[in-house]
Amino acid sequence: MRYAAITGWGMAVPERVLTNADLERMVDTSDEWIVSRTGIRERRVVGPNDSTTSLSAAAARQAMAQAGLDIDDIDLIVVATCTPDQFLVSEACLVQAELGGRAGAFDIGAACAGFVSALAVGSQFIQTGAHDRVLVIGADTLSRFVDYTDRSTCILFGDGAGAVVLEATEQPRGLLSTVLGADGAGYKHLYIPGWGAFVPETAELFPEYRPHLQMNGREVFRFAVNVMGDSAAEAVAKAGLSFADIDMLIPHQANQRIIDAAARRLGLPRERVWVNLDRYGNTSAASVPIALAEAAAAGALQEEDNLVLVAFGGGLAWAAGVVRWGVAGVARRVPAVEVAVGAGV
Ligand code: ACO
Repeated sequence: MRYAAITGWGMAVPERVLTNADLERMVDTSDEWIVSRTGIRERRVVGPNDSTTSLSAAAARQAMAQAGLDIDDIDLIVVATCTPDQFLVSEACLVQAELGGRAGAFDIGAACAGFVSALAVGSQFIQTGAHDRVLVIGADTLSRFVDYTDRSTCILFGDGAGAVVLEATEQPRGLLSTVLGADGAGYKHLYIPGWGAFVPETAELFPEYRPHLQMNGREVFRFAVNVMGDSAAEAVAKAGLSFADIDMLIPHQANQRIIDAAARRLGLPRERVWVNLDRYGNTSAASVPIALAEAAAAGALQEEDNLVLVAFGGGLAWAAGVVRWGVAGVARRVPAVEVAVGAGV
């Protein structure tokens, strides 16, 4: 049986920091309100020369170096994003233009659930034997679509990218189970209206064609609290494991209260939940792979550890999976190197 081990990981965030104090000067809010309601203290936002592509390429280079591979070794690039730099072509092709190579390249659109969904897609290509090495990236620059006069949304989001390399192994490593779901009827609770091919609506709503993210925070919160715990628990059961077998929860970093509810559902103490939303806010599709890369770089993940990855977001969509960490059984041509994973693009 073939599995898709995670053999490389990387992350990138822009250098520009937007603190709660900065937001206090922009909208009617306070550091106290933001921290107590969300847990977020600061986030990174793109500058004029940063892009979804530049962040993705930086994260991908780290992940490939960590795996001891270069772009010509990669068979497929899958990018999860809801903020591609262009409509045509795919973000994955823009990333390939930066990195080189001739791998297949396409995007997955599932908002904040995008990376876990793309991980499932990339893993399938390896498990079926179609490909041996897949680069999976989660990247978003939602700050480009946030209305910085709307205090209910502008405090939440940051920009970034995370990447992993998947490689074939016959040992049970990588994604052991997947839970994917969506409630499309709820799409208006979190969306960017008018940014698409439906021109009449676009023209009517946005004559200047500059759409902004709109969100019903309470509805999304209610949805998220339930679906994070439920889908994570389902993923654990599907992997044939119990909650006691789980070493680390790597959740989508949207809100500390939502993360706490998911952790409670799995019976996991705080120290077994990777949290970085205080520093990055909600980076959408980048959130889970950034957290994963940080946890790996910090030495918090050991061979054979069972991780739960879980995310929710616009769609309304959700995705969860159990990942068994480690590289056992992966054939290597060159030894992997330790790569500094981190910020600053
Ligand atoms: N500063 C101060 N007050 C604020 C702010 C702010 N930044 N934002 C809202 N308020 C006010 C509201 O106006 C409201 O005032 P009112 O009672 O006078 O009407 C009050 O605070 C409470 O508002 P709620 O919306 O009920 O606050 P809540 O506790 O639900 O927190 C939040 C809001 C943080 C947005 C929460 O609902 C949440 O996290 N929801 C989930 C959102 C989310 O995760 N979205 C991302 C999904 S991922 C993706 O796909 C992109």
